[in-house]
Amino acid sequence: MRILVIGGGGREHALCWALSRAAVVFCAPGNPGTAAVATNLPVAADDPDKLIEAVRARRLDMVVVGPEAPLAAGLVDRMAAAGVAAFGPTAAAARIEASKAFAKRLMAQAGVPTALTRTFTDTADAKRYIQGHAEPLVVKASGLAAGKGAVVCATRVEAAEVAADMLGGRFGAAGREVLVEEFLEGEELSVFVMTDGERWMLLPASQDHKRLGDGDTGPNTGGMGAYTPVSIVTDDLLERVEQRVIGPVLGALAGAGCPYRGLLYAGLMVTPSGDPYVLEFNCRFGDPETQAVLPALDDDLATHCWRIATRETWRPPERLPAVRAAVTTVVAARGYPDAPEKGAAITLPADLPAETLLFHAGTARDPDGTLRVAGGRILCATGLGPDVPTAAERSRRLAEAVTFSGRVFRRDIGWREAARAGAS
Ligand code: AMP
Ligand code: GLY
Repeated sequence: MRILVIGGGGREHALCWALSRAAVVFCAPGNPGTAAVATNLPVAADDPDKLIEAVRARRLDMVVVGPEAPLAAGLVDRMAAAGVAAFGPTAAAARIEASKAFAKRLMAQAGVPTALTRTFTDTADAKRYIQGHAEPLVVKASGLAAGKGAVVCATRVEAAEVAADMLGGRFGAAGREVLVEEFLEGEELSVFVMTDGERWMLLPASQDHKRLGDGDTGPNTGGMGAYTPVSIVTDDLLERVEQRVIGPVLGALAGAGCPYRGLLYAGLMVTPSGDPYVLEFNCRFGDPETQAVLPALDDDLATHCWRIATRETWRPPERLPAVRAAVTTVVAARGYPDAPEKGAAITLPADLPAETLLFHAGTARDPDGTLRVAGGRILCATGLGPDVPTAAERSRRLAEAVTFSGRVFRRDIGWREAARAGAS
């Protein structure tokens, strides 16, 4: 099989790596890391005409779309119209991520547990609502904001300022609608579901680390590291997630005339009583969770994608188990997430240590071969092992071995598992 992966970040490098076990892989536009496992094609992810041209010229069998923006813009619809098999939801189904207001309405209709929320387009209305509600509060831009559009506010004053800021244009069109949400206490979980709209299969649940600093401090980011498996995830919890979240929401999407095909990412808060609440849905693989989840599997991902994309009969197992632990540490540039400093030269270790994988995210290569910082999140250092603490140590050592001026990374990815191991 010949597959085109669309995108050029760490998630896409991990997808290319996993798919290349059983397929010939191309990546558009890719990055210096994907070039090692795939053929990079210099076509932008937001150029459907050129992508379709590339699929035809290279006789590719299937397209797998990485990022949310092309999905929300209708890339899969365009591919379908051109007769190209594509793994990912249509634009209508991708609204589950592209419009938080849409996702909330869908959840309300399907009875899916989620934080109590109100949506506003007017600053005065939002402020009045905030005055009447308990602290802390969470304020979110409804549209796509690269994982940075949710702000946990300790006080009503801060919440009112953030809401005014968003409605005043800080996130452009993404902030035209703003959600004000009750704060949920608990532990976050990322659950990836591959689905053809009716059947589904769970990938190993993972935990992201959204805050910039060690000990979960500092601003929210797109994610600073992730690990799998997560020991709070029991069969009972997964059954609850399937019965209360996945089944109802897939049913509601089909009922709304936009059946969901592709990967559905449920971002959950598991409350201290063990109940899963939805924080958000994403219409694609998570980044950086994918850089831990895929290395924890031995499965043939390509076949599942193919069956879903072509609507062939698909009889998936209920779950793909993690056959090993995997931890990924994101190495970012100083200034991330607001204003990352670009351009520094990167030195990579000559040989990767055993049981590690290095995924490129925001790197670029000069004509003379020099690797440079070209984004916010630069590399993802994945460590493997029999358990999370071992994999975490390998991940940290690899992150340490990547050097460039202004390098930033968290040294505590997977800390909850280490704490749980210590407590038991
Ligand atoms: P979102 O973009 O909606 O996933 O929000 C980004 C991050 O903000 C989440 O991963 C959580 O860490 C935090 N967050 C969002 N909503 C809530 C909530 N209702 N209660 C507590 N934390 C939240
Ligand atoms: N890691 C969070 C996301 O992919 O949205």
